[in-house]
Amino acid sequence: MNEHAETGFANEDLIPLRNDEFAYIADLVYGRFGIHLPDQKRVLVSGRLSKRLRQLGCATFGDYIALLNADGSGSELSEMMNRLTTNHSFFFRESSHFDFLTGTVLPELEKERASRGGSQGLANYPLRIWSAGCASGEEVYSLGMLLHDRYALAVGGPDLGLLATDISLTALSTAKQGVYGEQKFTETPEAFRKRYLRSAGAGEWSIAEEIKNMVLFKRLNLMAENYPMKGQFDVILCRNVMIYFDQESRSRVTQNLYRYVKEGGYLFIGHSESLNRDTNPFEYVKPAVYRKLSRATRISGGTA
Ligand SMILES: C[S@@+](CC[C@H](N)C(=O)[O-])C[C@H]1O[C@@H](n2cnc3c(N)ncnc32)[C@H](O)[C@@H]1O
Repeated sequence: MNEHAETGFANEDLIPLRNDEFAYIADLVYGRFGIHLPDQKRVLVSGRLSKRLRQLGCATFGDYIALLNADGSGSELSEMMNRLTTNHSFFFRESSHFDFLTGTVLPELEKERASRGGSQGLANYPLRIWSAGCASGEEVYSLGMLLHDRYALAVGGPDLGLLATDISLTALSTAKQGVYGEQKFTETPEAFRKRYLRSAGAGEWSIAEEIKNMVLFKRLNLMAENYPMKGQFDVILCRNVMIYFDQESRSRVTQNLYRYVKEGGYLFIGHSESLNRDTNPFEYVKPAVYRKLSRATRISGGTA
């Protein structure tokens, strides 16, 4: 069988995608989701969508585009995105971010809040973290384990709020179920595995209820004009998401995220990503870590 390397599909399974059809889909995906599909992605698009066309009884991409246009609910558009985006993730991915959280960010917040909270300590202050582009939940549950381990038994620990959003309903539904194969946990510390994983049989593990209960999952397109959340976050993780975006979309999403980070708070991006030095409003801290300076520091022109 003649298999195409990037899609894993046998070439004869692919429904042909004409230039104008590819251009139409690429424009739609860019306009709605900020995701840039260069010409080299044509075979990938046809590979990932051909099965869907067959399920729907569409003989050509022209038929599929007509169906997309006729679907006022947007559910087929969402289904198409589920198939085009990569939801790959695993627990404690890019572990240096988790080390930075425990070694720097959390101690900093604890110190600052303890000084403000007097005898009430941290209890008066919520600690809010947002996993933006959470895929199937691996990132946010890793955070949940780390925070639960640090604070759950602490007297007067902070009120923890974890938000996890993604555009893909399929990924979110897997996230809410919280059941994963063994291969997702290769980077998970043994103590956390013991404490927070329950055997679900057949080599699968489910996340402990106390961790699942810490997280609110919501669907959100990061390219939207406005986000519905009230309040800001101490830390936002938007890792390996903007990788799909072109410079303009990346810049727009970064500006949006900036509004949702508290002064002194942090943005983590993937280690293979970077923000444009000239246009992004964050202060660079170290690779894949950025900070929103406090107003006072910005005005005095110093660094945090
Ligand atoms: C590779 S996963 C990253 C998961 C996790 N953050 C990590 O680093 O392991 C990328 C996720 O970004 C989501 N995504 C892509 N474009 C998006 C958009 N415009 N709005 C929200 N989520 C988006 C995809 O659905 C996918 O689940």
